[in-house]
Amino acid sequence: MCGIVGAVRESDTSGFLLEGLRRLEYRGYDSAGVVVINQSGRLERARTVGKVKELERALTQTPLAGTTGLAHTRWATHGGVSETNAHPHICNGTLALVCNGIVENHEALRHSQQEAGLAFTSQTDTEVVVHQVYLHLQNGLDLADAVRATMDELAGSFALAVVHAGEPGRLVAARQGPPLLLGRAEKESFVASDINALLPATRRYQVLENGDVADIRGASCAIKDSGGSPVERVIHTSTQSGAGAELGEHRHFMQKEIHEQPRAVSDTLEDRLLGDRVLEDAFGSEAGRIFDATRQVLIIACGTSYHAGLVARHWLEYVGVPCEVEVASEYRYRRHAAREGTLVVTISQSGETADTLAALEEAKRQGVVGALVVCNVAESSLVRESDLVFMTHCGPEVGVASTKTFVSAMTGLLLLALVLSRRHGFDSGFEAHVVHQIRTLPGALEAALAMEDAIAEMAQVFSDKEHALFLGRGAHFPIAMEGALKLKEISYIHAEAYPAGELKHGPLALVDEKMPVVAVAPNDLLIEKLKSNLEEVRARRGRLYLFADPASGLESREDVTVLHVAPVDSAIAPIIYTVPLQLLSYHVALIKGTDVDKPRNLAKSVTVE
Ligand code: F6R
Repeated sequence: MCGIVGAVRESDTSGFLLEGLRRLEYRGYDSAGVVVINQSGRLERARTVGKVKELERALTQTPLAGTTGLAHTRWATHGGVSETNAHPHICNGTLALVCNGIVENHEALRHSQQEAGLAFTSQTDTEVVVHQVYLHLQNGLDLADAVRATMDELAGSFALAVVHAGEPGRLVAARQGPPLLLGRAEKESFVASDINALLPATRRYQVLENGDVADIRGASCAIKDSGGSPVERVIHTSTQSGAGAELGEHRHFMQKEIHEQPRAVSDTLEDRLLGDRVLEDAFGSEAGRIFDATRQVLIIACGTSYHAGLVARHWLEYVGVPCEVEVASEYRYRRHAAREGTLVVTISQSGETADTLAALEEAKRQGVVGALVVCNVAESSLVRESDLVFMTHCGPEVGVASTKTFVSAMTGLLLLALVLSRRHGFDSGFEAHVVHQIRTLPGALEAALAMEDAIAEMAQVFSDKEHALFLGRGAHFPIAMEGALKLKEISYIHAEAYPAGELKHGPLALVDEKMPVVAVAPNDLLIEKLKSNLEEVRARRGRLYLFADPASGLESREDVTVLHVAPVDSAIAPIIYTVPLQLLSYHVALIKGTDVDKPRNLAKSVTVE
């Protein structure tokens, strides 16, 4: 999942391309590159390994200038992280191309192109695409027709943009899978993987559909659909803020975003509650009709968003709504039996996760009463593909590790459970009780954040560890999973989560005095069961680190460190117990000196499968 940006401008475009890359860096930061057609009609390219600031440094030393150009930030799929594998890729010194996605038949194409005498300079799947376009140009096709012919020969899922040194002022873009937007201005045109990269130049944009090829010449743009027929795509006007997120007084975006959680949740709740009721319209104008027809819920998501779904299953089943939760990358390829009256719910911070989009398409194909997305990005693909939308109002999340959007998505899913509870015999007293608890969320999140200093001290123990176990029970098992994921991704410590009752079925063999075991222990119906499981760990000389309700009776002793979490109602406890685990992973990473906001090998938005 890489980021593409391109432009045909009246004046030099290199500044716009670089700013576009900064705004797309969340899609990958293994390497970056830019190409422009210079005044003498030659391609000039710069590529660097590492983050966009490396490219920026290179361009300060050796600036490029040109009105037509392309740029790319890479998350490696085929071919390691190196300058030669970075995009743009060039063929014959005249044709430059950037691509986001995966070309599945690249090996066969590479073979035939080598036989045709073309030389390769990279290990990427993308290089075959630029060669293939070149071969079609050699056969007399026009640039846009050459791109169309190439698309027809490629298997996989990709979005691409291409320029030819002999045709300054022209750019051809195509989509077969990952999103690609065209930016439209009075005298100029742009192309980018998302709206953020376009905003410094224009708010007006079109969304290319699968199979579209766009032929841009200056301000004019002719789009042909997959059948080769000219089509008009709607011109939208973005209402998204053009400002990039600022770090302010914080050291990292992750820390800032953890601390923004009380605000993110209160913004997410604004206009969604009336007195002691949840407003059904918070999910969209069709919500009443779709919820009336809902007999069960199928939740589909990836990573942290999947964990939010696992928590939501507890809430939904509590109010009598059958619920399944699926990892999108598995669901999309699994055979499943359609169930009548299914509401499919996708959860996604970005709204662009390729697996989630494909799984949603598959669920719709099976037949659903409606599709609801819980999302943080209004102008995203999942929002466009859904009948109902619940927006989390978190503002941009920059840190690769999701924090505020996880907590806010869970809040939205709790509201969904309440709205559906009305149809399953739960009275207004139940809803009023939970709404009352929901209103306490911002304050309870503040109280959890106040634990930061104590958690920073606890974090010292973890910094030289290679493994950790996370335990929870009931709705807190997914919270333990989320805690383990956060520790893994930002501090590179191997961490695994287990339902505490499952330890004795195998994982207990891992426990010794070197294994830190973290557990979340709210004072709920399972607390006594959990305490027995914790004793099993102590009996094997395991070292316990607990986040516990004061009423749980859990206290620090020689082999147990307990940090008390202010008491909260069990309806909202999973949301609150998330915070200490986020802070723990953040402080461990801080001590280890890892790149907290851009951990190695990852990207903020996963737009390839
Ligand atoms: C982990 C993390 C990822 C994302 C996952 C899905 O901190 O952020 O696991 O949750 O890639 O992304 P979205 O929510 O954008 O669909």
